[in-house]
Amino acid sequence: MTKKVLITRMINKECIAKLEKDFEVVVWPEYEIPMPREKFLEEVKDAHAVMTMLSEQVDEEVLSLAENLHVISNLAVGYDNIDLETAKRKNIVVTNTPEVLTETTAELAFTMMLMSARRVIEANKELTDGSWTGWSPYHMAGTDVYGKTVGIFGMGAIGAAFARRLNGFDCKVLYHNRSESDYAKNLNADLVSFDELLNQSDFVLCAAPLTSETKHTFDKTAFEKMKNTAHFINIGRGGHVVENDLKNAVETGEIAAAALDVFDKEPIGSDHPFVGLKNMTLLPHIGSASVDTRDKMMELCINNILQVLNGGKPFTPVE
Ligand code: GLV
Ligand code: GLV
Repeated sequence: MTKKVLITRMINKECIAKLEKDFEVVVWPEYEIPMPREKFLEEVKDAHAVMTMLSEQVDEEVLSLAENLHVISNLAVGYDNIDLETAKRKNIVVTNTPEVLTETTAELAFTMMLMSARRVIEANKELTDGSWTGWSPYHMAGTDVYGKTVGIFGMGAIGAAFARRLNGFDCKVLYHNRSESDYAKNLNADLVSFDELLNQSDFVLCAAPLTSETKHTFDKTAFEKMKNTAHFINIGRGGHVVENDLKNAVETGEIAAAALDVFDKEPIGSDHPFVGLKNMTLLPHIGSASVDTRDKMMELCINNILQVLNGGKPFTPVE
């Protein structure tokens, strides 16, 4: 029997062709619209492999239906959308896409930090609204990144790539992890307690995976410990943040600004409470979105599927 691979979104056609040589491939034919849940539940029933997006919840319900499933290949480095425990119990391999997206995602984090520091969104809006009245000494004056203290919550590959860029800006780099990070070696970055990270940093980057331990790390208490002049940048997951607490912190001046690429419930619309706050830099989850990197992520997903279905070891299993 030919094995079936389900892909929950239209991807690069070469990747699909590579699978079609040996397998029956079912692809949801849309780039932008997610596969409806009912369709996913129906198609996953007889699939041997599934390539999922971070917008799919691969939960107990899905896994209980998927009797033939050997591998879930997630097109993301994060995998909080997958019920790992149940997958493990059912001997289903889960893979993600680390490394290939590291530099691209760090680049976006750096972009966000600079945008927030220099009020780029606010300044651009003023101009396009037609309300720019001319040059003045403190007009749209922001803050420097150069020489500042930057704290990284979650020093993994992306955190380290971000830190390397900070070295070029002569920044003091702090980080907080449960224990000393191998990624911090040779980096000129100091491990500090979470409170020290919050107290001392001018910019705080959240680059951690979302787990039950890191969920809601950034709440009212955390924002109160940050400097009033600090900027908070999130490229992790919306679930790291208590969004209402962040809104209050930014509105009351508890912190200076926030730059966010991720939200609790995505996508957010223009009615979201963050939209319209002038010290918010908001982006629609584009951390790893360069064409080169997305192609590499897709290729890695496909290669992981091929490895598992052909009886080999996946390249990037989630442990
Ligand atoms: C994106 O958010 C990812 O986890 O790759
Ligand atoms: C700015 O444009 C300057 O000339 O200082």
